[in-house]
Amino acid sequence: MNRLTSYAHGGGCACKIPPGELEEIVRGLTGVVDPALLVGLDDGDDAAVVQIDERTAVVTTADFFTPVVDDAYDWGRIAAANALSDVYAMGGRPIVAVNLVGWPRDVLPKELLTEVLRGGFDVAREAACHIGGGHSIDDPEPKYGMAVTGIADPQRLLRNDAAQAGLPLTLTKPLGVGVLNNRHKSTGEVFPQAVASMVALNREASEAALEAGARAATDVTGFGLLGHLYKLARASGVTAVIDAAAVPYLDGARDALRDGYVSGGTKRNLDWVLPHLRADVDDEELLLLADAQTSGGLLVAGEVPGYPVIGHLEVRGDAILRVR
Ligand code: CO
Ligand code: CO
Repeated sequence: MNRLTSYAHGGGCACKIPPGELEEIVRGLTGVVDPALLVGLDDGDDAAVVQIDERTAVVTTADFFTPVVDDAYDWGRIAAANALSDVYAMGGRPIVAVNLVGWPRDVLPKELLTEVLRGGFDVAREAACHIGGGHSIDDPEPKYGMAVTGIADPQRLLRNDAAQAGLPLTLTKPLGVGVLNNRHKSTGEVFPQAVASMVALNREASEAALEAGARAATDVTGFGLLGHLYKLARASGVTAVIDAAAVPYLDGARDALRDGYVSGGTKRNLDWVLPHLRADVDDEELLLLADAQTSGGLLVAGEVPGYPVIGHLEVRGDAILRVR
């Protein structure tokens, strides 16, 4: 049996369909919606949200991807933390999840799948989220993730279109898992700091953001910090300014970038935002800021105690993004 990541054509959220392409695909499918659908397809938010009554909204999302690490248990934990994250990114609390599995049953032992699922179970338990059944198919490329349903207070959502000029921007996890995962896939080197970051739930960050009065946030995944911030600023009608020196990175991220471990997804992220970006920093810095994350942190419009401020929001100027 080969290393688990060798079965993946892409890596983690970096195997997402590119952002611009996705928007073309769903164009024309949005529009006529019931007002109870508080968050739908329009601004590409993290999850769909439906209002049930005055106090309750249902939050629903799905996320799955190919192996990002060779350790099956870690991959399961990462995929689960990543799927749960979209509920936290809306200000919700996950209630129940079902597994989504693609498995090459002729090639990979089923004991390995048990390890993947065990990782998912452990993280769901940590999140106090039930796991029901799920769906599995025979697939030449292994895939794992979850569809997650949660609840939220409809008056206290973290939307991506509710950010306001004048607010600081907070980022709750360091960047760099994209380049480190890419290096791991190529060389087999293990990066425990990246694994620790990816398996960490965004629950505390979400609760702290709500507690601090935040109304706008998103999680940083496959489109990178620049891509997700661009979506948030565009949907909210503001300009986002990043102080590059204030952005935290995992140990080894800068070296991995210099050694060439940049994914195609990261380059596509940067190409996508470039027409809307004014930058005073070099390309290396921009590539790091566009690094496609897997199970990244929350990007919050507002200050969240305990987490670094990386920039701020302004009245919309001539560019949607600025990096200085
Ligand atoms: Co998301
Ligand atoms: Co997602």
